[in-house]
Amino acid sequence: MIRVAVSGATGLVGGALSSRLTQEGHEVIPLVRHAASGSELLWNPSQGGIEKEPDTPLDAIVHLAGENIAGRWSASKKQRIRDSRVQGTRALCESLARWKQKPSTLVCASAIGFYGNRGDELLEESAAPGTGFLAETCRDWEQATSPARDAGLRVVSLRIGVVLSKHGGALKQMLGPFRMGAGGRMGPGTQFMSWIHRDDVIGLICHALQDSSLRGPLNAVSPHPVTNQEFTKTLGKVLRRPTLFPMPTFAVRLVFGEMGEELLLSSTRVSAATAVAAGYSFQFAQLEEALRKEI
Ligand SMILES: NC(=O)c1ccc[n+]([C@@H]2O[C@H](COP(=O)([O-])OP(=O)(O)OC[C@H]3O[C@@H](n4cnc5c(N)ncnc54)[C@H](OP(=O)(O)O)[C@@H]3O)[C@@H](O)[C@H]2O)c1
Repeated sequence: MIRVAVSGATGLVGGALSSRLTQEGHEVIPLVRHAASGSELLWNPSQGGIEKEPDTPLDAIVHLAGENIAGRWSASKKQRIRDSRVQGTRALCESLARWKQKPSTLVCASAIGFYGNRGDELLEESAAPGTGFLAETCRDWEQATSPARDAGLRVVSLRIGVVLSKHGGALKQMLGPFRMGAGGRMGPGTQFMSWIHRDDVIGLICHALQDSSLRGPLNAVSPHPVTNQEFTKTLGKVLRRPTLFPMPTFAVRLVFGEMGEELLLSSTRVSAATAVAAGYSFQFAQLEEALRKEI
């Protein structure tokens, strides 16, 4: 049994992770931003990090908090997306570094946005960062964990792909139009989408908590990334609906702006080789079975 604090514990990943850890008999302490109860820890992403060192030491922290990136990106939304991750992570790590009894492990979210728009290049963790707002944010987000690393914690930065769940994120947004038969590919359709089922993100977080040989960046994507065209066809097949309404590139740009450019039109083909070599066995390696679980 381990004692683990989780930030963003109310989110799509954090909620399901907390349930799984609790079911497995671990003790989960949510890191909350407002008014902590006795079983929670208060933290402030803008300054100070975790308010007070807990009386009973933690074994690990899973840091998932961050402003949701869905929707059009205004200047203030972009600022919140960046600050909640970069400042938030730095504040959290600086507070951990000051503790007398530090946890041994920090698993911190990052994203495949780190790699930017890379065509069909197969991207391992050693690949250089890309360019653009998300790539720069992810690079700085990962660097913001350095106070924890310097203080001796084992830090794993999970570069998470598009998380598939009917409860939230990209798939939930797509299910409505696709169910009505109004789905179709986005832009050229040749752009790669590196996806992961939510159960596997949680599985990989649990693996990273236990496997002390893992440290540094770790891609959290299924071993079979697909193009947007293949994703569209597979979702249509699973839902038994036609997918005859492509959204041309100019329309994606018009409707979604910079978010559309960086998330929907960008091509990122990410390798899961490190996770597989570390012994992680995916519950959903193929897209069709992942989608069938969610409809
Ligand atoms: N879902 C995906 O497809 C995906 C893909 C790649 C990377 N990721 C990353 O994985 C992490 C978890 O993703 P998720 O889908 O579970 O996210 P989510 O559902 O949006 O939840 C994130 C949580 O962060 C906290 N939060 C929200 N706004 C915040 C702000 N301005 N400052 C600080 N904390 C804030 C909230 O928890 P509290 O209210 O409890 O604090 C929220 O529930 C995120 O960092 C995300 O960027 C997700």
